[in-house]
Amino acid sequence: MMTTVKPCEFVNVNGTITEGAKASVSVFDRGFLFGEGVYETIRTYNRRPFLFDRHMARLRTSAARIDLTCPLSNEVIQARIDATIEAGFSVGDAYIRMLLTRGVGDISYDPKACSIPSFVIIAKPHSPVPLTLQTDGVMISLVSVVRNHPGSVDPAIKSNNLLNNALAMQQAFKEGTYEALMRNYRGDLTECSQSNFFIVRDGAALTPPLAAGLLEGVTRNFVFEIGTEIGLSVREATLRDGDLRTADEAFLTSTTREIVPIVRVGQVTIGAGSPGPVTQRLLAGLRRKADALTSA
Ligand code: PDD
Repeated sequence: MMTTVKPCEFVNVNGTITEGAKASVSVFDRGFLFGEGVYETIRTYNRRPFLFDRHMARLRTSAARIDLTCPLSNEVIQARIDATIEAGFSVGDAYIRMLLTRGVGDISYDPKACSIPSFVIIAKPHSPVPLTLQTDGVMISLVSVVRNHPGSVDPAIKSNNLLNNALAMQQAFKEGTYEALMRNYRGDLTECSQSNFFIVRDGAALTPPLAAGLLEGVTRNFVFEIGTEIGLSVREATLRDGDLRTADEAFLTSTTREIVPIVRVGQVTIGAGSPGPVTQRLLAGLRRKADALTSA
């Protein structure tokens, strides 16, 4: 007997929900032609989009930086997200990717050639970081790809134009590691291809400043707040290669990965080569607070 498996990846293109495989946008969409758009990745805890308002604020800020306005209210977007998740699966947490592009128009860089932005939501089950990576930590690469200069495609804009990130991550894939840490044009450490980077030294968690040219991660900011709540110093500091050798711990942060301990960066073993107590306290604090904020 043939059993049909209900697809659980659903996509909402400008208000119309279909299975992932049937979703499409025009090849004349500027998002496709030029990577001209912005995006956000959100996840749910307890089936509620987490820190939704912060992600929406960043989406609108990113959009404004490319002279684009999101035509939908947060309420409409929230309702579309809920409907798209519900179409796919009724239990478990969701990964949600929202994309806002310039829309369909002539092949031209003129913003006025496109009158209606496209708004796409991809919803699928959230895949948590495997437990072994949390308990053993991960190895990451320190790649030769330089993070975009802020005067070029500013990494502060969460842009669909992700070639810089993809090229960095290609090096990590070749080396069989979990992430790609990039330096900026000055040689300072910035961020990873899909996450922010922290080291821990003398009990304090340190992360490169926004001025290094990086994305102001929602999780990065949340970690500052958790630090304050649990009495741990979390602050910005300019970091260079040499700081990896003197770090006691290191970790990365992102919406989908939460906090992942790093035990090696390139050839450098971090601290004792195993996840450390500060990383673990921050992760426990993040999960506790995420649960509290999304429980009824
Ligand atoms: N990535 N830096 C980069 C380059 C990123 O792409 C991301 C997020 C982060 C962390 O940001 P946040 O804490 O707001 O998720 C930092 C998402 C998860 C993605 O690309 O899907």
